[in-house]
Amino acid sequence: MIKVLFVCLGNICRSPLAEAIFNQKTEAMGLSGQFKSDSAGTSDFHIGELPDERTIRCAHLNGLKIEHRGRQVNRTDFRDFDYIIAMDEHILRNLNNLKVRHKFPEKEIFLMRDFVPGCEGLPVPDPYYGTEDGFYEVFRILDESIDCFLAKVKETHHLYA
Ligand code: 4NP
Repeated sequence: MIKVLFVCLGNICRSPLAEAIFNQKTEAMGLSGQFKSDSAGTSDFHIGELPDERTIRCAHLNGLKIEHRGRQVNRTDFRDFDYIIAMDEHILRNLNNLKVRHKFPEKEIFLMRDFVPGCEGLPVPDPYYGTEDGFYEVFRILDESIDCFLAKVKETHHLYA
């Protein structure tokens, strides 16, 4: 089982949407049995909460179920997940500091758009303080990024579907 964790700040916008898109794609490929996915936030702002209502609307309009409850990244995540994927550089920096503090200094943390040729280093922009349109832009970015991530993972782990 390949374990994938998507991480943003609040765990109510970008990362739960990433998780829902990822689950839909792996199911459609007949590979859902090969993966376990989850999402988390670096902050404790929204622990236990459902995703932002704009995230839920965006997911539903794209035919995705979304039932995640907000949680904060914790020590065991660095041990348990094969791929920990940050939504932007700020989150990446936080995770790289946290992994040292939690005694997993060797753990590689990935940046979501680094999987997309030509988009290396770019953020999945935080849509929280913006308009609802921002959520549809985030969806498009995540859809593209996760396609590229899955292509890489399938190649790395010799998954055929
Ligand atoms: P997310 O968006 O990190 O994509 O879940 C945010 C959600 C909440 C806040 C910031 C960003 N906040 O400041 O509460």
